[in-house]
Amino acid sequence: MLSVIESKIRKLQQEFSNNSSFDFVTNDVEANSNLSINWEQTDAVIYSGDNLISLKKLLLNGPEIVDLCYIDPPYNTGSNFIYSDNRKSPETGLLGSHEAWIQFMLPRLVLAREVLKESGVIAISIDDYEFPYLKILMDRIFGEKNFIGNIVVCRSKNGKGSKKNLASTHEYLLVYGKSNKAILRGESDEDTVYDKSDAYGEYRIDGLFRKKGEGSLKSDRPLMAFPLYANLETGEVSVDPRDGWEKVLPKDSKGIDRRWLWGETTTRERVWQLYSSKNGIIYVKNYAGKERGQKRKKIRTIWNDPSWYTERATNEITSIFGQKIFDTPKPIEFIKKIIDTMSEENAIVLDFFAGSATTAHAIYELNKMNGANRKCILMESADEIPLNHVAYTAGYKSIVDVSIARLEYIQNKDQEFKFEVFE
Ligand SMILES: C[S@@+](CC[C@H](N)C(=O)[O-])C[C@H]1O[C@@H](n2cnc3c(N)ncnc32)[C@H](O)[C@@H]1O
Repeated sequence: MLSVIESKIRKLQQEFSNNSSFDFVTNDVEANSNLSINWEQTDAVIYSGDNLISLKKLLLNGPEIVDLCYIDPPYNTGSNFIYSDNRKSPETGLLGSHEAWIQFMLPRLVLAREVLKESGVIAISIDDYEFPYLKILMDRIFGEKNFIGNIVVCRSKNGKGSKKNLASTHEYLLVYGKSNKAILRGESDEDTVYDKSDAYGEYRIDGLFRKKGEGSLKSDRPLMAFPLYANLETGEVSVDPRDGWEKVLPKDSKGIDRRWLWGETTTRERVWQLYSSKNGIIYVKNYAGKERGQKRKKIRTIWNDPSWYTERATNEITSIFGQKIFDTPKPIEFIKKIIDTMSEENAIVLDFFAGSATTAHAIYELNKMNGANRKCILMESADEIPLNHVAYTAGYKSIVDVSIARLEYIQNKDQEFKFEVFE
């Protein structure tokens, strides 16, 4: 299996650059049954070491098991964090300073695609610097037709001060499906206001009963342009005339004769679902549904909520570890939002740039909050932490120790939370 993937990687590498220095070896891992994951007995597993090898191990122990892959890779800022974030190439050729970063990400993204289910989704955090290069890379690996969308995420109120003319307040979440079977669960409608109610429940008014657009003229469907009768005081609507009720025809604001959405028989059966405004405009009631919060709407592409700001993540790290021992964490609420909106409640979620293990923490909280049963696979490098880093002084020797410490923190709060470490 790995040799097929190897040739796929090599082919793509050549498309991106002629002088790939990367050597993808297939014989550094063997199918190892000890690494098979028993989800009956564990909530999370963490692979320690280079994620290229960990992804191969995961693949050999079972392809197509992951529902959602969320990653927050190094952004190639040039900084030295707890991990090195400098993969800048000389500024030559089409890919300029981005070539080495692309070559680093490419094989990992190919492997990530292999471990996703056909219905699987991948969401990647990234900022302006590598965004265009990542988009092209993803188009080549996942296919342009599987691009689901790009979400703009506000990460702070005042923005970064590093640029002369702009204070950047946003980054991105780039979302692809493995195939056209990928479906996002959607945003909860909890925030939606249902400001009216009747015997059938809470509802809001947000859709005209008069048809709009193509095929909406009376001449298109004359039988669907019958009169309705509206009580302008109570908002009730009837198909038959009633004393004192206003006759309403499906005319638009320009006086053009149009038609209703339903025929007369359906309208009679469902007339309770219609509502008239005080000036006789007929709407279809949109009910909240039996289980509020279960109803879902399409994910919107601009996300802005102070609980997703970077400063929140820093505060979370300080409150968990006593000091800011991880430089670039994501806030728990932000990852919860991604997981809740992009995966079902029994999903297996993979994060192969786990860092301080926020993804595991977010999944744990979602499971507790909603009775969900998502499972989590993390991967993090076992590289040594620089001696001058605060995490080293705090007693952590390798980066994965920080991820494991977060898992231990969750377990200390709740003994039922179980995790396993794969060296
Ligand atoms: C931006 S951070 C992720 C932060 C994470 N989302 C959080 O909330 O803490 C990227 C992480 O990827 C890890 N990483 C970089 N290269 C890696 C590799 N080849 N294998 C495994 N982990 C790697 C870094 O050590 C770092 O912890």
